[in-house]
Amino acid sequence: MNVLVTGSGGREHALAWRIARSPSAERVFVAPGNPGVAAMADVAENVPLDLKPEGFGEIARFCREKGIELVVVGPENHLADGLADYLREAGINVFGPGRQGTMLEASKSFGMDFARRHGIPHPKSESFETCDAALDYVRNTPGPWVIKADGLALGKGVTIAADREEAFETVRKSMGEGAYGEAGRRIVFQEFLEGKEVTAMCLTDGDFMIPLPLARDHKRVGEGDTGPMTGGMGAFSPVDLDSFGPGLEDVIKKEVLERAVAGLKAEGIDYRGILYAGLMVTESGPKVLEFNVRFGDPETQCVLPRMEGDFAKALLACAKGTLRSYASGPAVSAEDRLRVREEACATVVMASGGYPGSYRKGIPIYGLDGDERGALGLTSLGGRGEREGVIVFHAGTKVEGGVLVTSGGRVLGVTALAPSLEEALRLAYGKVSSIDFEGAFYRRDIGR
Ligand code: GLY
Repeated sequence: MNVLVTGSGGREHALAWRIARSPSAERVFVAPGNPGVAAMADVAENVPLDLKPEGFGEIARFCREKGIELVVVGPENHLADGLADYLREAGINVFGPGRQGTMLEASKSFGMDFARRHGIPHPKSESFETCDAALDYVRNTPGPWVIKADGLALGKGVTIAADREEAFETVRKSMGEGAYGEAGRRIVFQEFLEGKEVTAMCLTDGDFMIPLPLARDHKRVGEGDTGPMTGGMGAFSPVDLDSFGPGLEDVIKKEVLERAVAGLKAEGIDYRGILYAGLMVTESGPKVLEFNVRFGDPETQCVLPRMEGDFAKALLACAKGTLRSYASGPAVSAEDRLRVREEACATVVMASGGYPGSYRKGIPIYGLDGDERGALGLTSLGGRGEREGVIVFHAGTKVEGGVLVTSGGRVLGVTALAPSLEEALRLAYGKVSSIDFEGAFYRRDIGR
């Protein structure tokens, strides 16, 4: 089948790479894509489609012209704009929820209320629509304060304020000065929880679901989890939760993912796509800090290399509402069903100097040497054959005058798969040390 992926980041490069490795996939188109996708020219290509609502008609025409059997929507803003609804109405199979389901991510208060309605463990939370009421809340409660813009804020709307002045300032900036635009005019305070953060994602067709391996990302910019929050500075999978006792993965599946899928169905929301639960695993069990309606970034970069089977077929089954028969029906071979590799995977993000604040763009990148095509199966493997390899996913790059340059805050996701997490980290950091661009920085404690 031909597949169209929308988006241009590291997550979309990883999606295109993994879909292209599926036996059922013929050609993968990515709109608008990035130079990493362009480097996979034998199996994938970038297409310059307009992804704003005024371009939806053109996207549908493109799908018909190219015989696209499946559209995989990458970023949440495309979903919030109604791309999945539009294409589905045009008779095209789409992996990604419609606007109704997207509310789980597009409104943090909706997400927390949804968790409450369906008995999904979550932190105490309160939302406010006026600045005065929110400031009063800060005055009358003990810190630290977890403050979230209610709407979509490009991964930047979360602050954990340790002192009251910082909390006041965050509230004023968000609600009074519009630091996050409309997204931050309403804010949510969440109980501050301690524990281990874990990302749990599942594929679902709204009825049945397949959990993906757990991952953890590192959200703060600095080593030792210091400094401001970012979109994610690195990630790894699997996650060791043994210290919380046995069976925790099963608890996450039953009490979070299955309840959420059942809750969506009970509310009449036709949800086909990925369901992402950002969890804090506390001494009293896992709690959902947020739901997202798309693949995590950079978690996807370290989860997909651990998946075997026909990934494209699994996504198509979600889009068509046939995931149960994909998972257990006689028409799908065992070879095509998704399975999790034992190997560990780690992604180290190389970022532009200044990120997550302001940073320069257009800086030449050295040292890639074709690794963006992906040693994990698309080119020859060294070392232990199919058991280890390195791939560099592009996140914020572009080609200018024939030169690969930076074009975003998070520039590259250097990813390695190996028999152990230690070895994956060694491989990933080894590759990182051979890549260079002025101002490049990365966290040295990913996976620690
Ligand atoms: N890495 C966090 C996210 O994708 O929201």
